[in-house]
Amino acid sequence: MEAGKRKVSVNVNGEGRSAEVEARQLLVHYLRDELHLTGTHIGCDTSQCGACTVLLNGEAVKSCTVLAVQAQGGEVTTVEGLGNREQLHPIQQGFWEKHGLQCGFCTPGVMMAVVSLLEDNPNPTEEEIREGLEGVICRCTGYQYIVSAVQHAIQLIAQAKSEEVHMGGGS
Ligand code: FES
Ligand code: FES
Repeated sequence: MEAGKRKVSVNVNGEGRSAEVEARQLLVHYLRDELHLTGTHIGCDTSQCGACTVLLNGEAVKSCTVLAVQAQGGEVTTVEGLGNREQLHPIQQGFWEKHGLQCGFCTPGVMMAVVSLLEDNPNPTEEEIREGLEGVICRCTGYQYIVSAVQHAIQLIAQAKSEEVHMGGGS
């Protein structure tokens, strides 16, 4: 290993990944530059925009405020871990169907913040949704479409759960 570098091994989106990094490398750069997971965006250099939000051990964090070495041995979920083109996650589906994005730059961070919000509070009020997303700045939508998308995602999740129960009951 090169002098000054450290090996960082992290479970990212369910897959073990490792890379040698500088001790001061930020998690966001580890994800984008070493693992090529470029869905996590960098929108500022002041830790304010939230575009870089990912889940670290289940908690939403701004990945530009965490060192890669701090994630050693942990679990990271990025937007790439939510769903895919064939099978969108209900939150992605909600944003798609309710136009929760315009330029889309903030969207990966917003969606990861929504995942965390709904884990803590599966049925938030509009005010709680707005509060829960305070850490992520969107310059395009005025937030109303984001709120509608989240409310729609909540319905989709409830619908999927009731279908699951229904199918389970019939077996
Ligand atoms: S890039 Fe803006 S908060 Fe991380
Ligand atoms: S959709 Fe453009 S910044 Fe949010």
